[in-house]
Amino acid sequence: MTETQDTQIQEKVALLKQLEEANREVQKYRQQFLKKEQEAEAYRQKLEMVDFIQQYLTQIRERRVVPDVQPGFMRPLLPSSAPYESEDWSSIMKDVENIILPGVVHWQSPHMHAYFPALTSWPSLLGDMLADAINCLGFTWASSPACTELEMCVLDWLCKALGLPDHYLHHHPQSSGGGILQSTVSECTLVALLAARKDRILQMKSECTHADTDESVLNSRLIAYASDQAHSSVEKAGLITLVKIRFLETDEAFSLRGETLQHAIEEDRRRGFVPVMLCATLGSTGVCSFDRLDELGPVCEREGLWLHVDAAYAGSALLCPELRYFLNGIEFADSFVFNPSKWMMVHFDCTAFWVKNKMKLQQTFTVDPLYLRHENSDATDFMHWQISLSRRFRSLKLWFVMRSFGLKNLQDHIRHSVEMAKLFESLVRNDTNFQIPAQRHLGLVVFCLRAGNGATQELLRKLTKSGQMFLIPAAIGNKLIIRFAVTSQFTSAPDIQRDWSLIRQTAREVLRSCALTRQPSVISDESCEENEDELSRMRLEPMIDERLVRQGQRRATRSLSCSAELPPARAERTPLQRDAPLEQIPERPEHRAQKRLLKFHSVPSLSQVWAQCGMQQLYQPFRRGWVTSRASCFNCFPLETSPLPTK
Ligand SMILES: Cc1ncc(COP(=O)(O)O)c(C=O)c1O
Repeated sequence: MTETQDTQIQEKVALLKQLEEANREVQKYRQQFLKKEQEAEAYRQKLEMVDFIQQYLTQIRERRVVPDVQPGFMRPLLPSSAPYESEDWSSIMKDVENIILPGVVHWQSPHMHAYFPALTSWPSLLGDMLADAINCLGFTWASSPACTELEMCVLDWLCKALGLPDHYLHHHPQSSGGGILQSTVSECTLVALLAARKDRILQMKSECTHADTDESVLNSRLIAYASDQAHSSVEKAGLITLVKIRFLETDEAFSLRGETLQHAIEEDRRRGFVPVMLCATLGSTGVCSFDRLDELGPVCEREGLWLHVDAAYAGSALLCPELRYFLNGIEFADSFVFNPSKWMMVHFDCTAFWVKNKMKLQQTFTVDPLYLRHENSDATDFMHWQISLSRRFRSLKLWFVMRSFGLKNLQDHIRHSVEMAKLFESLVRNDTNFQIPAQRHLGLVVFCLRAGNGATQELLRKLTKSGQMFLIPAAIGNKLIIRFAVTSQFTSAPDIQRDWSLIRQTAREVLRSCALTRQPSVISDESCEENEDELSRMRLEPMIDERLVRQGQRRATRSLSCSAELPPARAERTPLQRDAPLEQIPERPEHRAQKRLLKFHSVPSLSQVWAQCGMQQLYQPFRRGWVTSRASCFNCFPLETSPLPTK
């Protein structure tokens, strides 16, 4: 073989190899293409999720509202570790129906009356689906300009739709404020307290000669206020910021009044505290009561307190001008928060929070690392208004809802819920076995059995056990009440009639069994109420037990512990001494007063905390030091010196 022939053969072999290689590549691409085709098919299947959701929402009436499961029910139904290979879509969906849904409380059901509404709607779902697909993080304007700008525009829309003051608008010549979307009202109340605290500490530092005093010392002087009906999130904000919270007694309509606040402020100033904030509630969780902004606002302004308004549920009602009767005095509020995620059919999470002066947020939360700077430094960077850095594109779902329904349909939805609540109220009022112990406001009716706490508790237990509706208890003083909130936008008059029939029928059974075990005369309004024997006799389920009945007493105690038996105040001060410079503030505020104010009565007891952490409190000797106050024993029990027995 000549050298030329040899070269030609080698070239052919090389060519063949190249061809084989190319062929392999083609096969590989074909397989990849086929895989893509299969994936596309799988995605098409995933779109069936939309049908699934449609079916779930339209057939929700047929489901048990409250699941019939026990803690730990899911563990044996799922493998103990994640699958290594990918799993079939259909098998995942099968498990949704068989494992997940049986453990779900169906919040969208018209028979869900617990808590407050947490509604959703198609515009909200689809708007958020788009936001999830875009998945931008709008911490600065530059990180996604549309995310920031839509939020500013939509919050201005919402502010105008609720009839809130112009000073909350982003786009208004006289406004220094603006609105932002956050996850929860709890978070916003904390943000408001942090901002109020920062502002007051800066003020104290600028006023006093001790400009170098440590901020923690100044912090220890601060005190904030809320009514005894305020949500536990106010307490939590106090726990986190170490600002003492004083819960003030409300009047017979469960409203905090201006005079009560004024009295508390004066008393606390005499004892060396520095009042910093009032959290007023519009639509309290227990009975939907309203603090009197028209009286509280002027007090806050005069005394230099940050007025924060929590309208978590009731805020949505402001869409209807005729329901704005509780808004008088709103012009005094430094911040206002409500949850469109409750009643406005924008699904969780979506909390609208407005401030009068955005500088007060910025001076609290601004950090300025190089990697977050951008050219448009005059644009709004929402990272400086909040605790976390990253933020979702929440305004899309709110924008979809406001545009798809229009204000008119949103108003109709609110009015319909209120009408349904009125219908339920009229049914309850017509039955002499029942009592409505607090005025109905908006979509919340509270009721109880005249036969007393034990009977009411038993009624609630039976209804919960039936799974046919979900109600929760609350307390007015030491009277156990049942809350009935109209939630779903699909609640109809027949739904209300059906629920009332079930409640009335169950009540009759309870009263009949009461009558069998006791003298009929005992079942009267006066003698049966707060009957402790009956309570313990009927203590059947840990969920609805004596502890819940006592919650009302705890709340009452919470306010009483702060407003009654106060230590003697020092001599009256002149008005000029109101904002006492630091040297006039005693080194330690009145010790007993401080201890009293530290009593956070809804902080769980140690045994509750241990149970949640899987520990047992068996044979644990009582230690005096742990129980100086609920708050301090919760925070500081000596774990290292005395290991707790575990399960
Ligand atoms: C009056 C009030 N404030 C605050 C909250 C807490 O809201 P979030 O879950 O958004 O923190 C609630 C919850 O229902 C509430 O009723």
